Amino acid sequence: MDKASISFNNKTYEFPVVSGTENEYGIDISSLRKDSGGLITFDRGFKNTGSCKSSITFLDGENSILRYRGYSIEDLADKASFLEVTYLLIFGELPTKDQLDKFHADIKDESHVDEEMKKILDGFPRSAHPMGVVSSLTSALIAFNPSSVNIESDEDMYNAIVKLVAKFPVLCSWALRKKLGRPLDYGDDNLDFVENIVKMMFKKPNQEYKINPIVVNALNKLLILHADHEQNCSTSTVRIVGSSHAGLFASISAGVSALWGPLHGGANQAVIEMLEGIKKDGGDTKKYLEKAKDKDDPFRLMGFGHRVYKNYDPRAKVIKRSADEVLNDLGVKDEVLDIAKGLEEEALKDDYFVQRKLYPNVDFYSGIIYRALGIPVDMFTVMFALGRLPGWIAQWREMRQTKEPIGRPRQIYTGENHREFKSINNR
Ligand code: CMC
Repeated sequence: MDKASISFNNKTYEFPVVSGTENEYGIDISSLRKDSGGLITFDRGFKNTGSCKSSITFLDGENSILRYRGYSIEDLADKASFLEVTYLLIFGELPTKDQLDKFHADIKDESHVDEEMKKILDGFPRSAHPMGVVSSLTSALIAFNPSSVNIESDEDMYNAIVKLVAKFPVLCSWALRKKLGRPLDYGDDNLDFVENIVKMMFKKPNQEYKINPIVVNALNKLLILHADHEQNCSTSTVRIVGSSHAGLFASISAGVSALWGPLHGGANQAVIEMLEGIKKDGGDTKKYLEKAKDKDDPFRLMGFGHRVYKNYDPRAKVIKRSADEVLNDLGVKDEVLDIAKGLEEEALKDDYFVQRKLYPNVDFYSGIIYRALGIPVDMFTVMFALGRLPGWIAQWREMRQTKEPIGRPRQIYTGENHREFKSINNR
């Protein structure tokens, strides 16, 4: 199984096959264009194209398996802290206590943001979508940290990573505080990493903030479940932007923008809006399933379907269980959870969804938890970004360390052939 061939115009071209540690195989067609004098492969949406070798995350969509650095997502969500998972993803191993303490101490030391950044935030209207705000502020960080990372230096790389892991949650909390009309705040070094994020987001200026462990545990789990997902749209964006040797902050800012779209991370906001719409319309889930199946109707069942999972998304399984627990523990009754469960039940026995292997994805139940935690709907995708940050960083680091070439796909041109220029009076 170490060779594959492509035949075209009575000629056969042979290619090596690359394999991974989980018995995945890919035909390495890097010599195709050169050997064949111009032939390329064509794969819209990269549905069958591997863009890199990676040792960070393993995903088997047929069998609902997701592992970070070999550890199952279920185990990590149950037993690890988000900061441990951040370290694991970026540096490849679970940290020892000393490594984790040092990482956390370094993060605390960098968790201030230049006061002038507040002026940039001030320039946004309060109605601005927080994802746009976070993407812009992440990019603006470059102006205050202008020296680029020397990727040959472990120390340089470590310092850049620490800066971003430290400052990104501050920017996310500022996006929320701006929305809520609250004064901007900084963290509290006495707290654990996720406790601190929660406090930065929700503390009122005139009150002492009491940490609610239910909120912190739920958020810890959600952040872990979102922390990486191999070569998805935003991660591929981060890698491809970084492949031009653009810096870490610029690459992550691009990743935030890619995540924003409703077919990707923005689906968590779209799901709640959809469920609310169904509720307002009398809760008729069957009507909306029919709409989703109707090819003349642009409506899609948000939070359903996935490019890679052709089985239940393992993250959705954990989140669904967690939604029940969190709402119960917080004493929140949300009718929308019942609508979501009803929709899922109907969809999973409907031929259209069964044949296409469409199951709930990570975004289907997450918004219900975010809402129960008191997070506004247009902050949901920011929460996803907060979780995804370690994955983006790990993938960016791997891409630079393995010296990936600049990402630059080819195309099949379908436009006009050569035409003579006509002066404006003759057109
Ligand atoms: N509702 C109705 N039909 C669907 C849906 C849906 N949510 N998702 C896919 N389909 C149909 C689609 O119309 C197509 O049907 P046909 O074969 O008859 O043309 C078939 O299923 C395959 O869909 P596709 O669009 O070719 O699949 P894809 O791999 O290109 O798209 C997706 C994956 C996630 C963009 C898509 O399933 C979708 O739009 N889902 C809703 C948005 C969503 O929940 N996104 C979050 C994804 S998980 C979070 C993350 O981004 O990591």
